[in-house]
Amino acid sequence: MGIIIGLTYDAKEDCPVKQGQPIDFNAEMDPPDTIDEIIEALESGGHKVKKIGNFKNLLSQIDHLCVDIVFNISEGVFGRNRESQIPMLLEMRNIPYIGSDALTMGMTLDKMVAKKCFVVDNIPTARSFVANSAEDLDGFNGLSFPLIVKPCYEGTSKGITPASRVENVEALEEQVRFVNEQYQQPAIVEEFIKGRECTVVVLGNDSPKAMPVVQYEIDNQLDGDVFYTSEHVRKENVNYICPAEISDELTNQLQELAVKVYKSVGCRDFGRVDFRIDDKDNPYVLEINPLPCLAKKDTFSFVAKELNKSFEEMILWVLEEGLKRLKMTEQETEVCA
Ligand SMILES: Nc1ncnc2c1ncn2[C@@H]1O[C@H](COP(=O)(O)OP(=O)(O)O)[C@@H](O)[C@H]1O
Ligand SMILES: [Mg+2]
Repeated sequence: MGIIIGLTYDAKEDCPVKQGQPIDFNAEMDPPDTIDEIIEALESGGHKVKKIGNFKNLLSQIDHLCVDIVFNISEGVFGRNRESQIPMLLEMRNIPYIGSDALTMGMTLDKMVAKKCFVVDNIPTARSFVANSAEDLDGFNGLSFPLIVKPCYEGTSKGITPASRVENVEALEEQVRFVNEQYQQPAIVEEFIKGRECTVVVLGNDSPKAMPVVQYEIDNQLDGDVFYTSEHVRKENVNYICPAEISDELTNQLQELAVKVYKSVGCRDFGRVDFRIDDKDNPYVLEINPLPCLAKKDTFSFVAKELNKSFEEMILWVLEEGLKRLKMTEQETEVCA
């Protein structure tokens, strides 16, 4: 007999893009297919899944959830604490859940807060500063063009367009203004790392394990100036290559760094670390995602294939890691009053 799992998520349809909002406003939210795929995967382990949905739904059901555990993939809607909201509510009610806690969600969603952890832990990351306005470019001192300008706390390449890579002060100011106005938040300005792009899934807790490295092929290129824009996300035209076409030495280095990053920010159960690698094989950590995309067409399936596992087994692996951390068995079932 399995357990009863509540699934918290933010569905795209609950959050349509409204007039005046950027076109990629709901890019992080999950389409119905992804939610169904995760439910099927959890059910394939003999568990029952109860769809809960977003924070509002969770709040309205919090006193009669009747689940053993919550599997949380909710991205939240507004602000840099949006991914922390569901974990925080569950913590308040002492309801066990799969995934990182509220603090890790907050400090990784804000890319600069996460980078401060990386610096303390000697993890290589591109030099950068935060710009609150186009006039607030004091941190620019010492950085070299080209730079990339990103929203400080978005994901899924939101706010990243071909214009995000800037070559001069004028373009830098314009792009900072674009991020501040369109995304209502500071911009993070970072040295642009020309080269290859890879990502590493990490699973587990006491001794987290790095999965085979996945490489991105962007515009049919594996190297150079290409980068992953919001339009690539919309058109789904980035290819995943696993194992990455890099040396064994670099593979090991990325895997070790990924685990170090995961521990640096206290990630739990699952996560994914994004890297750029320059032409001298120097890796730079861009960010860590404690809520990486779990859609079947995304990285997890490519990792699964390389490990001779199914997508469903990967999702059940995430669940198992959480249950182990919580010292829960797969047999327990909450008696619902
Ligand atoms: N410093 C950088 N140098 C080169 N490309 C970058 C850099 N930072 C981000 N990018 C590009 O922008 C994409 C999105 O950036 P990332 O920091 O991973 O944010 P998110 O995935 O949360 O939107 C990356 O996948 C990469 O292609
Ligand atoms: Mg990323």
